[in-house]
Amino acid sequence: MQFRLTVLPGDGIGPEVMEEAIRVLHTVGERFHHHFDLHNGLIGGIAIDREGAALSSETIEMCRRSNAVLLGAVGGPKWDDPQAPVHPEDGLLSLRKGLKLFANLRPVKVFPTLVNCTTLKPDVIRGVDLVVVRELTGGLYFGKPKKQWTTARGRKAVDSMLYSEQEIERIARVGFELARTRRKKLASVDKANVLQSSRLWRQVVTELASEYPDVHLDHVLVDACAMRLIQRPTDFDVIVTENTFGDILTDEASMLAGSMGMLPSASLAGVPRSGKRTFGLYEPIHGSAPKRAGQDMANPIATILSVAMMLRHSLALEQEASLIETAVSRVLEEGYRTYDIMEDGKQRVGTKEMGELITARL
Ligand code: IPM
Ligand code: MG
Repeated sequence: MQFRLTVLPGDGIGPEVMEEAIRVLHTVGERFHHHFDLHNGLIGGIAIDREGAALSSETIEMCRRSNAVLLGAVGGPKWDDPQAPVHPEDGLLSLRKGLKLFANLRPVKVFPTLVNCTTLKPDVIRGVDLVVVRELTGGLYFGKPKKQWTTARGRKAVDSMLYSEQEIERIARVGFELARTRRKKLASVDKANVLQSSRLWRQVVTELASEYPDVHLDHVLVDACAMRLIQRPTDFDVIVTENTFGDILTDEASMLAGSMGMLPSASLAGVPRSGKRTFGLYEPIHGSAPKRAGQDMANPIATILSVAMMLRHSLALEQEASLIETAVSRVLEEGYRTYDIMEDGKQRVGTKEMGELITARL
């Protein structure tokens, strides 16, 4: 089969980890006789420097003409000035909104060989296998009014946690559908004891639950969820939540896996269903790690696992996706580690070697 993909390597370690992910992708292509037609574009700091905007309309158009988009990372100290007119992160937000990528899937699966890599007790994290479904195009990130202004008594600022019932229903549906393919447990996370938007969230999710009698639904307050994530993370299967809560909870949840360098993500424009092709953007959850850039240090596994998610959700190539995941597990079981997951007695490797080791096991 033939697929058209847009690749946005971005800043910092983005290009390095992307190179290894592309190596894996092409090898899968050779094994299964698929052709991946790749088109590179700019996003983030490098796009600001070269094109004057964090994401040009041409690049968005290129993404729209593709079956899926692969992204490295954006940002760096060079573009951090809060007074600057544009920031690398603007590119990411316009991409999410512009491509209607409302459903962000962030799976956290702890590899058995890495249980000693985290700051938590191995007994707490052994067997963790959860997915956070984060709403990605609404809430505080995009709600209006959103502004800062000056009054006679000083400055004020507002962001709006705005949600329509349609927005809540479509993301909740992703949560229910995903739970159905897993352990059939859905935790809907809100702050319904305080927030109006959360009360609507809870009503809509409860109404939708009648369509999914086979899924066990729990409502969990976001503060309690933050606690339970490190107290008993194995309790969770699928978590569905709004944009800002999801942003915070997924950074917390990522620490269960030992390193952000291990975790992939998918941002989808529809409800993923097995065998169906849903347009999406795939990226590691880590940032651009400017201090590690250009040193052949960064862990490419998160980006490589993002390629697996892309094959599964946007190209409906399940077998190819599992092959990558199995190759990653094997390399870890054989004891190879990048710096971020290094332990005594293991074999330390760089970005390139990790990519080559995984490729060799496909
Ligand atoms: C994330 C990041 C982004 C977000 C930033 C870079 C805008 O933290 O993808 O979680 O807040 O969504
Ligand atoms: Mg975040």
